[in-house]
Amino acid sequence: FKINQFNKDLIQWFYQNKRDLPWRQTKNPYYIWISEVMLQQTQVDTVIPYYQRFITQYPTPEDLASAEEEAVLKTWEGLGYYSRARNLQKGVREVVEEYQGRVPNNKKDILSIKGIGPYTAGAVLSIAYDQAEPAVDGNVMRVLSRIFLIDDDITKQKTRRLFEEIIYNIISETDPSAFNQGLMEIGALICKPKQPKCDQCPIAKHCRAFDEGVQTEYPVKKKK
Ligand code: ADE
Repeated sequence: FKINQFNKDLIQWFYQNKRDLPWRQTKNPYYIWISEVMLQQTQVDTVIPYYQRFITQYPTPEDLASAEEEAVLKTWEGLGYYSRARNLQKGVREVVEEYQGRVPNNKKDILSIKGIGPYTAGAVLSIAYDQAEPAVDGNVMRVLSRIFLIDDDITKQKTRRLFEEIIYNIISETDPSAFNQGLMEIGALICKPKQPKCDQCPIAKHCRAFDEGVQTEYPVKKKK
């Protein structure tokens, strides 16, 4: 596996093919955080107008921290999974109280915040702060399970940690943001669950599942 060539192919493709999404216009860690929370259970197309309204209404952590929960839930209405909004506001209140309104830029502190788990922590640290941290969600596990022919059950906690270890070993140190977002984007646009577009995939030459013609057998969910 050629790590340098993989990174070059992935990152170059990302810059040439990335969707123009509103949270890609910013490095503000608070905005990246909001976008990642919204994107966790909701499609990109649905999130876009909610994201725009949310950051217009609550442009800074202080604005969200001082808002009434009821008002925040109203802005969230239609996105569903309201505990996400409640936890986001609780987490932002912690950031205002304990970090002077600045989202922590280290793993230990950011992971201590309400509503920030390993995925959101890695997304914020890599996208907003350019740190070489993994951001493993279902899309990323699908892409990497195919690249490396990993048949561990992706519903298991332990498997996410395996993918994190792999990413630590291959992530671009020069552009970890494009590396992580490139994997997300390939997962969303190309490396689809049922009909992957391997003929258009910039990293097919690095993909063991493509090589062996077994793409749709990966990822494995539940026991082998
Ligand atoms: N899904 C999760 N995070 C995303 C992001 N930053 N851009 C597009 N889709 C995503």
